[in-house]
Amino acid sequence: MSIDPIISTGVEISDAEMRSIQDAIMKRYGIDFFNYESKSFKRRLQRIYRKFNFKSSFDLWSRTLKDKDFVHDFINEVSVGLTSLFRDPEYWKTFKSVCEEHFSNQYRVNVWHAGCSSGEEIFTTAIVWDELGFRDKVRSLATDISSNALEKAQSGRIIKPKLSEYERNLKLYNSKADLYRYFKEDENEIILKPYFLDKVKFKNSNLIMEDYGVDQYDIIFCRNVLIYFDGPAKEKVMEKIYKALKPGGFFIIGFLDSMLNYLPEERFEYYDLRQRIFRKL
Ligand SMILES: C[S@@+](CC[C@H](N)C(=O)[O-])C[C@H]1O[C@@H](n2cnc3c(N)ncnc32)[C@H](O)[C@@H]1O
Repeated sequence: MSIDPIISTGVEISDAEMRSIQDAIMKRYGIDFFNYESKSFKRRLQRIYRKFNFKSSFDLWSRTLKDKDFVHDFINEVSVGLTSLFRDPEYWKTFKSVCEEHFSNQYRVNVWHAGCSSGEEIFTTAIVWDELGFRDKVRSLATDISSNALEKAQSGRIIKPKLSEYERNLKLYNSKADLYRYFKEDENEIILKPYFLDKVKFKNSNLIMEDYGVDQYDIIFCRNVLIYFDGPAKEKVMEKIYKALKPGGFFIIGFLDSMLNYLPEERFEYYDLRQRIFRKL
């Protein structure tokens, strides 16, 4: 029998309670969580209740206001970091040929991983860049709102229990690829060889609040991040992404991100709709 998390915590969260917590975080720390889709935000709050043993929204609300350190735990719990090496292997095959076609003759390629989580997307691109001979010309910015996730990403570490899934994905992408060309083995984990992260800059940043410049990037990944945002937030973030992409630059989302309403055809070419690859006109 499955247990509904609402029943197991014994705490129902009303819209008003959710808003008062979002309000507290905004007023105290200037961090905007108002635009998260409310059902999934409430589920995340319930996880926090369970983990920190809160009995009511008031407990959570007052802890948020009183305990400055708690906000980091809060953010780490609220942001869901599900990711994988070569997540959606077919997509990565297409991505590689797109890069080969468009960037082989370009001296520098600027890439932004928005919502990079614990780094698997960056480790994946490191392998693709290496295969394409792009290692020296790619400069990447990797951002996430979760400091825990960023710390993991920066360490280049993958724990061994995840390996069978990751190796399977890698082989589906390229049956000849050898994970140990890129990673060295430790007791409980494998670690990306440091030079593969040499040209990646990591930054803690909230997509909703920060600006990312104009005509900066050749490629922007925002895979499986916008899924958690409501309509107005998607619109706001898309405006920044559109500005930050160079004309002709590629924008890539995940398979579950329903974004077509925010990608008008006068702004984006639907370059490969199946693999969710768009191109700024
Ligand atoms: C499901 S993971 C996706 C990871 C990776 N892009 C992938 O597809 O494998 C979503 C990531 O988005 C981050 N995120 C959520 N809200 C964010 C925000 N407002 N600003 C920046 N990152 C955010 C989360 O912390 C999480 O690491």
